[in-house]
Amino acid sequence: MKRDSLYNFWATLKFGRPYVSRLLLASGLNLATVAADLAFLYLLKRLIDTGITAQNLALMKWIALEALGILLIRSVLGYVSGYLFTYIEGRMANDIQDALYARIQHLSMDFHTENSTGNLITLIFYYAHDMLQIITSLSGTLVKELFRIPALIIFLFSLHPGLAVFALLVFPPALFTIRLFRNLITRTTRRSYDILSQLYTKAELTLSHMETVKTFAKEQEEIEHFQHLNKEMLSRSLQEYKASALAGPVIQLLKMLGVTLLVFLGTREVAQGELSIGGLTTFIASAYYFYGSLSTITSWYLSLIAGLVSAEAVLEVLKTEPTVLPPSNGLILPMFEKKIVLRDVVFRYPTGAKDVLNKINLGITKGETIAIVGHSGSGKSTIIKILLRLYDPGKGTVSIDGHNLANLNLPALRRLYGVAPQDPGIFQDSVAAAIAYGRLSASLEKIQAAARIAGAHEFIINLPQGYDTLIGERGVKLSGGEKQRLALARALLRTPQILILDEALSSVDAPTEKAILQRITTRFRGRTTILISHRLASVAHADRILAMEGGVIIEEGDHHKLMAESTKYREWYLVQQSEKLDIQI
Ligand SMILES: Nc1ncnc2c1ncn2[C@@H]1O[C@H](COP(=O)(O)OP(=O)(O)OP(=O)(O)O)[C@@H](O)[C@H]1O
Ligand SMILES: [Mg+2]
Repeated sequence: MKRDSLYNFWATLKFGRPYVSRLLLASGLNLATVAADLAFLYLLKRLIDTGITAQNLALMKWIALEALGILLIRSVLGYVSGYLFTYIEGRMANDIQDALYARIQHLSMDFHTENSTGNLITLIFYYAHDMLQIITSLSGTLVKELFRIPALIIFLFSLHPGLAVFALLVFPPALFTIRLFRNLITRTTRRSYDILSQLYTKAELTLSHMETVKTFAKEQEEIEHFQHLNKEMLSRSLQEYKASALAGPVIQLLKMLGVTLLVFLGTREVAQGELSIGGLTTFIASAYYFYGSLSTITSWYLSLIAGLVSAEAVLEVLKTEPTVLPPSNGLILPMFEKKIVLRDVVFRYPTGAKDVLNKINLGITKGETIAIVGHSGSGKSTIIKILLRLYDPGKGTVSIDGHNLANLNLPALRRLYGVAPQDPGIFQDSVAAAIAYGRLSASLEKIQAAARIAGAHEFIINLPQGYDTLIGERGVKLSGGEKQRLALARALLRTPQILILDEALSSVDAPTEKAILQRITTRFRGRTTILISHRLASVAHADRILAMEGGVIIEEGDHHKLMAESTKYREWYLVQQSEKLDIQI
């Protein structure tokens, strides 16, 4: 095994640590079944020798009864240890899946932009299970076989040393076979995982965007693409099977050759009186067990190799550290008291080719209403992501009340904000639960009050079950503007210190938007609000307006100041006015 594989092997074994005592118990029971097997073999020899040679029928009955008793005990032991192993495997699978899910939840946004949902789902549901083969087969098979093989070898030597040497002749070709298949299996397993994750991603993306698929009449194409990937998946799993299953027959062949050779040599020994018939029968049976063990060890090793491929992928994610590192003992800021300051902030997305924010300098004082306007792609939403610390700036600093964001407790920082995004993710639940997502303990009165401010109450009470109506995939579909208002209610319910509306009402008609913004201004007076909108008339009332272009704040001031000068803002505003975009419904 290479060094990396060895590391992954040990790292996987660590998942077995909490279950060591139970694993030992299960392995102990497993070993007892081996002892029972050996006892059975011994009784077999005695049975044949007493029956055929001594012809002692009474004794034979006893021996047969003993053999039966041993078989019975073996079955019970096998059942109990089998159950224990299944139980431990289930618990460990849970542990790995929980650890993976938790790690994925904690990883920063850059990880999530780089990894598809399909990829992560494959990781949680397939890889996590497959890597367990390492531990379960280790304790279930290896421990047992490592005990059984020497025991059988000793037993074989005790029966007939000469024949035993011949029995061992299968070792070198068996080892050679294993080596041959090792690399092949690693390669094919990797390839089949790769295609599996593509298949999941395809299914996840198309099924969650059925409307787009149908709108563009792409059903047939999607079906064909899926079939193609699926066929590819099948051919790769068959390749994988071929690789691992081919090793089985090769070992089987060695086993049969070994047994034939032993029968041939053994009968000669019997004819010459060197071995009893019982001895030969038992020798052959034991050799058969011995070869069975060798073949089990081979398939154990090959499944270990496949398990290591999964382990590598799982451990890679578990080892990944979030790029936005939460401080170990971060300061919990319960209130925003004075000022948010962005100083010389430069930022580029990990996957991006150019800086999206370029030397942003900005101060937001408590109680202010700030508006950020500018062309699509100018970096408005990115500023919000930096404020929330979804990403850390490449250069420059961001601070709240003099504390660098990097030193603040992350969940507490995010609790200061209530964000209503342009494209809100609404969870599949009742309307009331969707609004309460950020504050689960909220009473229905509070939920309704937030919905009223967000202009959502009217349409909610007209839904089939009002606030109890299920929304999302399993329930009622909402319009774009309705979803936006639910997301706004969800943000308002947190009664945040800093309210952020990132084009939060872009799908709502202009008069309704105006009424909602007025209500927010009245109810949230004294709190800080950041508004981002393409509809300039809706944000003209802000205390300060920032106009952005290409990641730079190009103009700053209130509406009157910006209109009094020859600014880009004035240009944009006048174009919208002339087209009466602000009152379009
Ligand atoms: N996750 C991401 N990875 C890489 N680039 C990104 C990512 N998100 C946004 N960008 C790029 O960053 C730039 C700024 O995006 P941002 O979302 O801040 O624009 P915006 O001003 O909010 O635009 P809009 O008005 O359309 O919402 C864009 O060029 C966009 O393509
Ligand atoms: Mg945006």
